[in-house]
Amino acid sequence: MQQNIFIELQKAKTIFVDRNVLMPSYLPETLLFRDNEIREIAETLKPIMQNQKTGNLFIYGKTGTGKTSTVKHTLKELKEVIKKEFDVYINCRNYNSKYKVLTKTLKEFYPEKDFTGFSATFVFEKILKTIEEKKIQAVIVLDEIDKIKDLDELIYSLVRANEELKNSSINLIGISNKLTFKEKLDPRTKSSLLEKEMVFKPYNAIELKEILRQRISKGLKENSISEPALSLISAIAAKESGDARTALMLLLRAAEIAEKENNCFIEEAQVMKAREKIEEEIIFNMISSLPEQQQIVLLAIAMLTEKKRGLQKLNEEERVLSSGEVYDEYKETARKLNCQTVSMRWFREYLNELELYGIITSTISGKGMRGQTRLIKLGFKSAKIIKIIEKELGLTK
Ligand SMILES: Nc1ncnc2c1ncn2[C@@H]1O[C@H](COP(=O)(O)OP(=O)(O)O)[C@@H](O)[C@H]1O
Ligand SMILES: [Mg+2]
Repeated sequence: MQQNIFIELQKAKTIFVDRNVLMPSYLPETLLFRDNEIREIAETLKPIMQNQKTGNLFIYGKTGTGKTSTVKHTLKELKEVIKKEFDVYINCRNYNSKYKVLTKTLKEFYPEKDFTGFSATFVFEKILKTIEEKKIQAVIVLDEIDKIKDLDELIYSLVRANEELKNSSINLIGISNKLTFKEKLDPRTKSSLLEKEMVFKPYNAIELKEILRQRISKGLKENSISEPALSLISAIAAKESGDARTALMLLLRAAEIAEKENNCFIEEAQVMKAREKIEEEIIFNMISSLPEQQQIVLLAIAMLTEKKRGLQKLNEEERVLSSGEVYDEYKETARKLNCQTVSMRWFREYLNELELYGIITSTISGKGMRGQTRLIKLGFKSAKIIKIIEKELGLTK
């Protein structure tokens, strides 16, 4: 008779003490190498303790540099001192419009009520009335703020409202992975949102190693990983982008692989296998921090690659594109998306950057009929890239 699979699994050895500790959503007790950033955010929020408004703060930096964790950590400490509800954390990936942000905010103050379907004006007035009556200096964290479609309107309404509030205020902490996001903002939005700015720098390999060690000591059994394997994870993550999330993801996958292989010890071999597994997640992180125009350039490259495959049944090596045809495809794509196009000069600049990130490779062709052309090749599977960007640009659900 077949044995119950869970009895079998129950008997198997495990490498984990607490798997959750290795997840990106886990908030560690202490954040390493972020003392200055925590202090700066705390200084910004300090007026709340005297029941005064704080003003807005804008934080940006690449994925996995600890922005979300540092803000949550600092708010947690402030909440230990102020014993009243004041903060609202919103991930704008899930709440990507003014209306959604406002209803989510109101719901924080009335957790038991459902406000879906109410008009935007009603919801907004209700928020203002609530904080004014309760004398709340509200802090709304808009994480991944670049995902909000009608951000200018949202900021405009909030700034206007703030001017009329007497006993309370609305203060924003905007967070973005997109380094060039602020350039795109309406000047008025920019000046209100960016009253104060902070940049989070990527971690180096030594810092990443310490961050990993902290998690390993809580999440994995003793002696579960070799020193060279730990160095390898840190080195890979530092090279990819100095991103603690990638480092943790590598560690988690490597641990799972080690457990499956049933020796419950992570060595370099398991790290290399994990790396292959998370490649898609790494590309996703890279692509999602690119500015929209650059995403469209990349989308054009991927779509053209797909088209050529369909037409000519080329094999992987032959899917090389000339920069001229990519530029045409890019203009066409941007037009379909109702976006402005950038000039050839910017386009080349974008290609250079994509190459720098390793998303594409390019070579200059020899003396052809029409002189030299730049030949472009995608570094990853075109279908995957299309899927990621379409999601990023909100073209699919
Ligand atoms: N300084 C740090 N110390 C400990 N863990 C960190 C640190 N920075 C980031 N992490 C961990 O790395 C992961 C990604 O961090 P996160 O705050 O989500 O980055 P971001 O918001 O910049 O993308 C989280 O699991 C977080 O706990
Ligand atoms: Mg984040």
